[in-house]
Amino acid sequence: MNQIEARRRVVSGMRPTGRLHLGHFHGVLKNWVKLQHEYECLFFVADWHALTTHYEDPEVIEDNVWQMVIDWLAAGVNPGSASLFIQSRIPEHAELHLLLSMITPLSWVERVPNYKDTTARTNDRDLATYGFLGYPVLQSADILAYQAGHVPVGADQVPHVEITREIARRFNHIFGKETDFEALAEEAIKQLGRRNAKMYRELRREYLEQGIQESLEKAQALIYDQQKTSLGNRDRLLGYLEGGGKIILPEPQVLLTDTSVVPGMDGQKMSKSYNNTIALREDPDKVTQNIKTMITDPARARRADPGNPDVCPVYTLHKIYSDDATKNWVREGCTSAGIGCIDCKRPLIEKVLEEQQPMRDRARQYEEDPALVKSIVAEGCENARSIVRTTLENVRSAMGLDYR
Ligand code: TRP
Ligand code: SF4
Repeated sequence: MNQIEARRRVVSGMRPTGRLHLGHFHGVLKNWVKLQHEYECLFFVADWHALTTHYEDPEVIEDNVWQMVIDWLAAGVNPGSASLFIQSRIPEHAELHLLLSMITPLSWVERVPNYKDTTARTNDRDLATYGFLGYPVLQSADILAYQAGHVPVGADQVPHVEITREIARRFNHIFGKETDFEALAEEAIKQLGRRNAKMYRELRREYLEQGIQESLEKAQALIYDQQKTSLGNRDRLLGYLEGGGKIILPEPQVLLTDTSVVPGMDGQKMSKSYNNTIALREDPDKVTQNIKTMITDPARARRADPGNPDVCPVYTLHKIYSDDATKNWVREGCTSAGIGCIDCKRPLIEKVLEEQQPMRDRARQYEEDPALVKSIVAEGCENARSIVRTTLENVRSAMGLDYR
């Protein structure tokens, strides 16, 4: 793979905490399926992250790992387009976590909102552990090990990508310094050849003097296009563009999924902890039953009472699943008591079942053949490993660990 592709690399992970549901599908998986056609994608099971909170019941993790991979495949993640792997099979994540922890200020991890909220909210187990505090540093290692350009996650994960960017910046600042950086960068420019060197200098000046973002991006593309430039020189040229030292770990961007939160059967956010979910590979009868008993506008106690779709979680589902004509039919019928809630739910049930049918079909071959799932993961691990090996070589060398 060339370096342009590397720059367009996408990495994301999910903790194996149970069967995936419609909330995961509309919140994250749909996005993964789309991205796999546009980028080089790596998706992994964050089993170490699961252990940071569930260290007392590790026996459930194994089954969850394989079931989650089947859920991904069922949702349409294609192992021909994306690499699927397991975090704990790539020990470089742990090594990078350790190395990044050397330069991560305590205050940065302590102020991550998920850490503060979860430790305050959780009283059934002790999360005042070293491992849980390090959660965002491990996540940073997951991302930076692949030098990923983009991280598709839900809104709750934005602070984690933010700290990843800060850690990368600090790492580059500390370890990207070379005493003769400027001279080495100038030498690297000369090696680009006359035409490219001239273009690089012009774009760099435009960016540094006038802050033109487009010039920065053009110059970066120019550098990634150079097949003959060594990795060291590439990092120097990238770093010199922005005025500083070498960029060893590039800063990733968040790719937010823009779907609204999927409501659960009780009207709260769909979540395993509220026990209000519809699983991706749910039995059709169970899906029908769940939606039939789903909570509606509480003010609409009787069939003859008009309702208000804007406060009804069923209508929130319609916004995800139904076309304008159906939504208008609901609004009209609900506010005039022209339709009952069961009528209202019928087209929704149909849509959900229709969405899930191909998932059940795709899942079948994997459910019947666990070895197939394992071989997909083995292949994904291999690909992941070949990428992180290079990153770790650069990191070790930048940190002065390349003596033998
Ligand atoms: N913390 C993420 C979650 O709970 C999972 C995760 C771990 C992750 N490592 C990651 C997501 C790296 C994106 C990139 O959903
Ligand atoms: Fe909700 Fe539909 Fe019933 Fe109105 S008719 S209260 S939108 S379920």
